[in-house]
Amino acid sequence: METVRMIEELYVGGEWMGEASTGRTFEVENPASGRVVAVLPDGGAEEMRRAVEAAVAVQRGWEEATAYERASVLWRAAGLMRERAEHLARVMTLEQGKPLSESRGEIAYAASFVEWFAEEGKRVYGESVPASFRDKRILVLKRPVGVAAAITPWNFPAAMITRKLAPALAAGCAMVIKPSELTPLSALELARIFEEAGLPRGLLSVVVGTDPGEMMRPVMEDRRVRKLSFTGSTEVGKLLMRQAAGTMKRLSLELGGHAPFIVFEDADLDAAVEGALVSKMRNMGQTCVCANRIFVQRGVMEEFARRLTERMAAMKVGDGLEEGVEVGPLIGPEAVEKVERHVEDARRRGAKVLLGGERLSGEGGYFFAPTVLAGADESMLVFREETFGPVAALASFESEEEVIERANATAYGLAGYYYTRDVGRVMRLAEKLQYGILGANDGLPSTAQAPFGGLKESGFGREGGHWGIEEYLDVKYVSLGGLGSSS
Ligand code: SIN
Repeated sequence: METVRMIEELYVGGEWMGEASTGRTFEVENPASGRVVAVLPDGGAEEMRRAVEAAVAVQRGWEEATAYERASVLWRAAGLMRERAEHLARVMTLEQGKPLSESRGEIAYAASFVEWFAEEGKRVYGESVPASFRDKRILVLKRPVGVAAAITPWNFPAAMITRKLAPALAAGCAMVIKPSELTPLSALELARIFEEAGLPRGLLSVVVGTDPGEMMRPVMEDRRVRKLSFTGSTEVGKLLMRQAAGTMKRLSLELGGHAPFIVFEDADLDAAVEGALVSKMRNMGQTCVCANRIFVQRGVMEEFARRLTERMAAMKVGDGLEEGVEVGPLIGPEAVEKVERHVEDARRRGAKVLLGGERLSGEGGYFFAPTVLAGADESMLVFREETFGPVAALASFESEEEVIERANATAYGLAGYYYTRDVGRVMRLAEKLQYGILGANDGLPSTAQAPFGGLKESGFGREGGHWGIEEYLDVKYVSLGGLGSSS
């Protein structure tokens, strides 16, 4: 029996609330067993309204604090995250299913955004631009956009929050967060940490609930909320974009992906196999940057497929809380059904199952076996949609030109990977592949310093690096006239 302590309250405008205005509650399940791990108040529009009012009330004061004052809160929060990493990781694995080693990694990743932006807030520089007239000067200033909102997903319950919240707070913005109702517990843990770190009440709210449309309406309609950052599906991203038009909110949208992973004959094959494994199997294949279409040049296909199958067959599947487990459950029954549908479709259209290919019946959990498919092609669902599961679908190719064209033939443009020892090819693909994030001989390019984000229908806006804080800053300029001439 798991004895991890959970927070079963909402955090609205600096108050902890054991009941919601809806009068309802909802259950959070452990996907490894289907058992209920927590029961939470089901927050609604009223809680969101209160959260926005509280944020508006404290926004001005936070804007006026110095970057150093804001940074000291962020550094304390990051310190608490690192101190409590083990507890946070257990909460995450319980509600999300990912292996404990990955949850520990995600807490470190999440804390790294808080640390990065604590410092980046100190470097929000303006500019002075030469004017066209002798008696004028032009000063460019950056100011916080104002109250921001975030909608965060279940696949990275902590890191997708901190990479929005940390730049918002560092820039001087209050934030109202609606985390996924599948993984609210990690979000509430973070709220407690920021509260303990001394974040003034009202600057952060974490409102959880099961009716996102209803909850988000007051936020989307309120013109005082100036920014929305969303990580999730392209379909919902488009809907939010339409809703945001009413009040012209600034948007950052990190949406779906359909990553190509390309292995050339001149690649270091061991490195390529390890890269494919980490890119494909991280979080059981439930990341937006997962290798979804694995293209292998014909001459190395057999060897690559053999080695990858061997590595995936050796992975330990089970409850993520057990030490040594490398593959946990998927998030829920619909996720398993989708993966099953993709594999069935591929099989029917001629793909060969080299490994796995079926759901695993655990004790009520949502497990799917690590799967390798050979002979995949563009007629199959695995090559047309994000699978979001532990399925490595392999297709062979002949030439560089052919694979670039096939890799780009999608509406998505989030992440792409390629393995080659040819430096010229490294540069050619860097320029020609239509993806916001490229791993050249690197299966895990995500990091706090870099501008994470997509092209095309994978969205826009960047998270991480100095680009991440720009998303929460407005640019203004002052044309100073009547100054006379200095010469
Ligand atoms: C995502 O899947 O949306 C995020 C993955 C990452 O940050 O690497």
